[in-house]
Amino acid sequence: MELLERPQGTEDILPASSAEWIALEDFLRRTALCFGFREIRVPTFEKTELFSRGVGETTDVVQKEMYTVSSSGTHTFTLRPEGTAGTIRAVLQNGLLNEALPQRVYYILSCFRHENTQKGRLREFHQFGVEMAGSPNPSADAEVISLAKQIIDDIGVKNVELRINSIGCPECRKKYQEALKAYFQPHHDTLCPDCKSRLERNPMRLLDCKNEKCHQIGKGAPEILDYLCDDCSQHFEKLKRNLGLLGIVYTIDPRIVRGLDYYTKTVFEFVTTHYNEKEKKQETLTVCGGGRYDGLIEQLGGQPTPALGFGMGLERMLMTLHQQGVTLAEPSKCDIYFVPMGEKAEEKALQLTASLRKDGIFALTDVVGRGLRAQMKYADKIGARFTMVIGDNELESGEAVLKNMQTGEKITMKLDETLPERFADIEIADRLTKE
Ligand code: HAM
Repeated sequence: MELLERPQGTEDILPASSAEWIALEDFLRRTALCFGFREIRVPTFEKTELFSRGVGETTDVVQKEMYTVSSSGTHTFTLRPEGTAGTIRAVLQNGLLNEALPQRVYYILSCFRHENTQKGRLREFHQFGVEMAGSPNPSADAEVISLAKQIIDDIGVKNVELRINSIGCPECRKKYQEALKAYFQPHHDTLCPDCKSRLERNPMRLLDCKNEKCHQIGKGAPEILDYLCDDCSQHFEKLKRNLGLLGIVYTIDPRIVRGLDYYTKTVFEFVTTHYNEKEKKQETLTVCGGGRYDGLIEQLGGQPTPALGFGMGLERMLMTLHQQGVTLAEPSKCDIYFVPMGEKAEEKALQLTASLRKDGIFALTDVVGRGLRAQMKYADKIGARFTMVIGDNELESGEAVLKNMQTGEKITMKLDETLPERFADIEIADRLTKE
């Protein structure tokens, strides 16, 4: 690998696009707070066992996709492939379940999965996720789903479909898994190698297989909704009713099983279509996925506590927005660039720049020692909105000309302590006329 090539499946977020990421993250934080979720930050790596126990030994994530290192020969650690296991570990270790329940937390973090990059999947990607612990009630499911829905709608992503399903509890799943095994067994020889082993260990995973033959066979498979126990069935009915009350449109998709083992009862995905440039075809893309995981907290050593949440892929959200022609924010532009001519003028520009910055204005001046033309060229390249040339004449008169670089309009201004305030008025007026 060339030294200057970034690892496959990773992306650089450059200054030209970081403004969009900041705007997206600000928006997510504000919306999460309206629903009572507060931010949690957890380590980038955890003990490997947390993920193998939490996410599930039979999942692709644990079997094929984890970045694991051993440290000092005794422990192995893994870069988090998702946010839930680490967040629940932190919630338990720090006693957050002893506070008022339900506990609601959100996170914005990077995840690492050794995925097939041909399919547009990233090996480092970012998720916004929420977890709510302490409510068994379907109204919690509706609330979590409505948060994801509000984010998607308010940020302006169009054509997103909400698909829901219930995969029941371990009790109803036992009967269902037997039915699935019986259904797939006669097709054993036609299944892909992965599904052959899934058939024994976790037959529900077959429904998720992307292999065309397995997919076709799976079409006639029994559906989980026919196997739900009374409790799971009532839970699903109540969720549907609550979604209806909130005016949230959904479709029921009995094929959603999700790729992580901890789910129980409600599972859901927000799906959109997108044009894959590499493969030149339209594809479905899951921008957000989640569900209930009532057994996970106990499985990780806590008191039995029902919980649920979702994870939203931020690269996928931004990609979908871009394909739909939406830009969340433009990179910030320099408000004023001082062009000093000579040593004395440089000193004045230094002081003026500092005083404007104290007032929150994006101000720059020459730090290279360039001449007039080179400075103006630089100001133009960085898209400075205003410039002000300061030379001997300006120093003597105590006044200089502020130039609006877009309209060419010029205003003479005093070079004294009133400059920051007067400049701020002009700058705001300029922004308003553009809007
Ligand atoms: P997940 O479905 O594995 O769930 O991931 C959630 C979202 O992360 C996906 O819907 C997708 O938008 C994004 N994503 C996943 N893998 C990739 C990838 N390789 N490249 C780009 N984006 C990706 C979870 O991770 C669960 N922890 C969600 C959850 C939280 N369930 C309950 N609480």
